[in-house]
Amino acid sequence: MLVIEDGPSAKKHRRSTKVDDDAAAAERRKLIDAERRQLPAWAARDKLLQLLQEHRTLVLVGETGSGKTTQIPQFLLSARFGSRSRSRSSTAPGKPTSDKAGAAGTPGDIKSPQKATGVVERDGASRGAVTQNDGPAQNVHHVSINGSDGGGAANHGGPQQPTGKSVGGSDGSRAGGGAIAVTQPRRVAAMTVARRVAEEMGTKLGDKVGYAIRFEDVTSHSTRIKYMTDGLLLREALVDPLLSRYRIVIIDEAHERTVHTDVLFGLLKGVQARRGEDFRLIIMSATLDAARFVDYFPGAVAALIRGRQFPVRVMYTPKPEDNYLDAAINATLQVHADEGEGDILVFLTGQDEIDSAERLLKDRLATLQGSRGPTSSPSFGSRELLVLPIYAALPPEQQMKVFEPAPEGQRKAILATNIAETSITIPGVRYVIDTGHVKARDYNAKLGLESLAVVPVSQAQARQRSGRAGREGPGKAFRLYTEADFSVLEPTTPPEITRCNLGSVVLQLKAMGINDVLGFDFMDPPPRAAILRSLELLYALGALDAAGCLTEGVGRRLSRLPVDPMFGRVLLAATEMGCGQEAVAVVAMVSTENVFHTPRQKEREWRAARLKFVSREGDHLTLLNVFRGFLELPKESNKARTTWCSENFINIRAMRKAEDIYEQLVRFLGHPSPPGLGLQLATCGEDSTPLRRALTAGLFPHAAKLQPDGSYRVLATGRQVFLHPSSVLLDRKPACLVFNELMHTTRTYARDAVEIEARWLPELAPAVFAAKTIAAAAGPGVGINERLAPATTGVAAGARGRALRGAE
Ligand code: CDP
Ligand code: MG
Repeated sequence: MLVIEDGPSAKKHRRSTKVDDDAAAAERRKLIDAERRQLPAWAARDKLLQLLQEHRTLVLVGETGSGKTTQIPQFLLSARFGSRSRSRSSTAPGKPTSDKAGAAGTPGDIKSPQKATGVVERDGASRGAVTQNDGPAQNVHHVSINGSDGGGAANHGGPQQPTGKSVGGSDGSRAGGGAIAVTQPRRVAAMTVARRVAEEMGTKLGDKVGYAIRFEDVTSHSTRIKYMTDGLLLREALVDPLLSRYRIVIIDEAHERTVHTDVLFGLLKGVQARRGEDFRLIIMSATLDAARFVDYFPGAVAALIRGRQFPVRVMYTPKPEDNYLDAAINATLQVHADEGEGDILVFLTGQDEIDSAERLLKDRLATLQGSRGPTSSPSFGSRELLVLPIYAALPPEQQMKVFEPAPEGQRKAILATNIAETSITIPGVRYVIDTGHVKARDYNAKLGLESLAVVPVSQAQARQRSGRAGREGPGKAFRLYTEADFSVLEPTTPPEITRCNLGSVVLQLKAMGINDVLGFDFMDPPPRAAILRSLELLYALGALDAAGCLTEGVGRRLSRLPVDPMFGRVLLAATEMGCGQEAVAVVAMVSTENVFHTPRQKEREWRAARLKFVSREGDHLTLLNVFRGFLELPKESNKARTTWCSENFINIRAMRKAEDIYEQLVRFLGHPSPPGLGLQLATCGEDSTPLRRALTAGLFPHAAKLQPDGSYRVLATGRQVFLHPSSVLLDRKPACLVFNELMHTTRTYARDAVEIEARWLPELAPAVFAAKTIAAAAGPGVGINERLAPATTGVAAGARGRALRGAE
């Protein structure tokens, strides 16, 4: 294990520069530049490049904030690997002469003494040897770098770090190269990090540095570092199984073990075996579990960047809190009133919660302070408190605000989801408030139900959260639960693949020709039952044949569609039923969050405004009405759109996003050559029946029948569910409906529902609903394909929820 210590001078400076004009921007760049050179990653640079020269897989562990995500890809820009056969001399192929920073990693430097960083390689020569110091891992190198004073980084100093210009210089050598892909589990991380790195390199976002997330591609042919979601890389593997456009793939935040990351692991293992020496794989993780990864990837080597962590005092509440949201607000106010300088980071579970916490906090501050209204910047005591949210759906400009230092005399209170745990590092934080909760996916394979529920964090998560307080000095963490409660938390969070609906993943594996999904080389195999469920679901949707092979018609097309298979099926059915345009609009709308704005103080007003759009047939049609209303406005008139949205209590951001998704899906479906599907999109006008039938054709695993007590029973599983309070169908419960997703709070709610006719089910999903099963609807377990999954009952009803969530 390579250990790279951070030097004592790695103290961060707080900046108070405002980016008002070019000069200020240049000044800011200079400061940023000085800052990045102090990052622990910089001290490790040469050594990392050398390790990568020698090993095709590097597992890089480094504390959050040590510069892994932002710096490592930049170090690699001009490094060329896999030229061993050619020479180990100093003439590296493709090396831009102008780029000294890159020279450090060229083959010529392998043997040069590591003066600057004082590398001591204990058993570095014994590559392939088993070392037991770090678990059972093979090929773990135990190397330590001592006495780096941060000046090690400065030795590479000067302004020659890879800049747009020098990168441009290396374009000529692209033949052997390609871009660097860096995957992130979260869209926000991909976007904010790309933006930051573009700023560091002085290039325009989308030029040398870009990002790509589903439905948004901010890259160009000159992009050399591409931050992207792990789900998107997986999609790219579908059309480019060897990932040939990348010479380096970095799987970042590997410790998060998202389902896409885990599938990528298996694929990349294969890619590596098949690609030449020039391909490099880097697994980056913020937790010390390198051994797991090193064991999994043949010939991998591990390295540790050790950052500086200051002590953090952890405090618990003496007794359990009834309402962690209230407790978090109280704690924030208390820290603000009592504690010294430093920003506050509050961990909450999601957008809604953050929005209400923001409102409550501002209200409370206004009350405490007396005069000010809730919208002005609140202040309490002598300093002002700047309340800033950060979560995935926040527009990028607002996301970037949390990274700006608080203005003089102010303190930031950042209300974050678990994205601030490891994916992003916010400077200035000295106080952490941990509500002890997180929104997590859970999948019940037996019932075939996936849910997104608020659950307690794991101990590892709690520690990671607390650690965020000690990056720049001694900090304090306030855990809003008791010490006894902490001691009974799960030690770690199980990988997502073991607790989610695998429909879309299994479909993609099948489409890549990986037929034996049960035998796939998963690092942690998902439960057999979950795989079987997804096979059943895909069979029921017509994506797999009875032998479990991808069907060339429906299956192939579904695998290409960038939406969940159930919604993909809706789209395919809709094109046949003459309501393609409407179906795409509905899928686009359900893919965006929080379309409706529902301020508590104006409940009467928004309810009245909503009435205009309400369709008595259900939520999907209501959303369609909103979309149609929006499209009627002149596209070029921002003003008209803004006014319309605010008058109707509709979130304009969600609408813009829906419009964007709509346009992309229309293009995708209509494009004549693959991966486009060459489908014509007709409209069904005002007749809702075709659309409801198309929805049934894809959402039938979520068909439910009204029960005498007013609840619903999911036909496929027999499970009792309740209509979500937000549904327009609540006042007029139809006998039969299909819904998008289940939400589990105190009870299980079906969200986004639409009325259907029960008799459509056997017609549209014959594989599942024999006519008699409808009659016996109250009974569990219906219409199974015995050959496909003899061991299980019921069709897979994995609530993939909003059409696109999870497939990215
Ligand atoms: O990936 P890792 O957690 O090791 O660190 P990083 O994300 O590369 O962050 C390195 C440094 O850049 C941290 O000090 C962050 O505060 C800073 N950073 C920033 O100021 N603004 C961003 N948008 C991203 C990172
Ligand atoms: Mg990172």
